[in-house]
Amino acid sequence: MLKNFWYALAFSTEVAAKPLRVTALGQEFVIYRTAAGEPVVMSDLCVHRGGALSDGWTKGDCIVCPYHGWEYEPGGACARIPSYPMGTPIPRKARVDAYPTEERYGFIWAFLGDLPEAERPPIPPLPEFDDPQYRAVYGNFQWNVHYTRAVENGMDIAHTPFVHAGSFGNPDKPEIESYEVEGVEWGGLATVTLEPPPPTGIWGMLYKNKERRGVRTSAGFYMPNVTRLEVHLPIGNMVILTCHLPVDEHTTISKWLMLRTFFTQPFFDGDSRKRAVAIFKEDQPTVEAQRPELLPYDLSAELHVRSDALQISFRRIRNECLDKGWGIDTHLIQTEFSNKKAVVIPSPARREIPELAQAWVMKEVPIQKNGERK
Ligand SMILES: [Fe+2]
Repeated sequence: MLKNFWYALAFSTEVAAKPLRVTALGQEFVIYRTAAGEPVVMSDLCVHRGGALSDGWTKGDCIVCPYHGWEYEPGGACARIPSYPMGTPIPRKARVDAYPTEERYGFIWAFLGDLPEAERPPIPPLPEFDDPQYRAVYGNFQWNVHYTRAVENGMDIAHTPFVHAGSFGNPDKPEIESYEVEGVEWGGLATVTLEPPPPTGIWGMLYKNKERRGVRTSAGFYMPNVTRLEVHLPIGNMVILTCHLPVDEHTTISKWLMLRTFFTQPFFDGDSRKRAVAIFKEDQPTVEAQRPELLPYDLSAELHVRSDALQISFRRIRNECLDKGWGIDTHLIQTEFSNKKAVVIPSPARREIPELAQAWVMKEVPIQKNGERK
């Protein structure tokens, strides 16, 4: 798992003033909205005695720990310690990790890492989101896979004739034309022409009188965990952006957003959602059975062919990130104040306030190289 990227942690609709707990990258986060509706993402661990802030409540812009009532501002600084006599200064170390937060495309994104703003990779682009021709539906799909396997599956063009033979894959046309990976900022995209069978159900109705022709399909990825699929069907365009959120080393929640230019009335949303979930369910047994569970670091550990160019590009960029020290699954950090072992991803404030660098992080417990926790 990688730090120093933006992660979509929740849907906008899930986040309100009442704190929400989200587990991602092996860490607990708390998300809430300030009085003005601005989303805030923090580590869900009170610096005092390790209370879960998500069990607390909000007070104006602050979140209150349910244990001793410590109040934290959106930036992570403690604003009030109720047991302190009036006028007692609050120590600078009294703060929790707060992460830069953005609301975009109906997701709450947090920058999980400590890079200064100018050096942060961007949130992936999705120009279609603001195009009124498109209608959006959302959903979650949880599976027992390492997120990198889910990401590679999301960009894999060659598996559709086999895994999706019953839906949009065409077993009679397994050939993939050679393609170039278009390098985009922190990612890669590729476009090919496929010949899927006409869709069944309601979508099939629109196919009447439509000429059968190849379907231009673009697939690709944005680091570290986003895949994009764009399909130019004869009945209209469809774009699916999926944020494969690593919960831990063995669990992923794929948070998807599907945009379509056809059947844009809300009445058809349920059908679109059902189709998206059906595709994940077709993928699930195959991806969950992959060995090794974790994507190998060594590019020669698996055999690649021409149609794997996108995945090779993903693995190369991922390795560059690991080489830069952005991997966060090599250490398990135990806090002084909690028996529960917790991974704590450093927030930007740790660089800005030097005495925070090691604050309340007591012990680093090495774990095995393959990512298995001891
Ligand atoms: Fe698939």
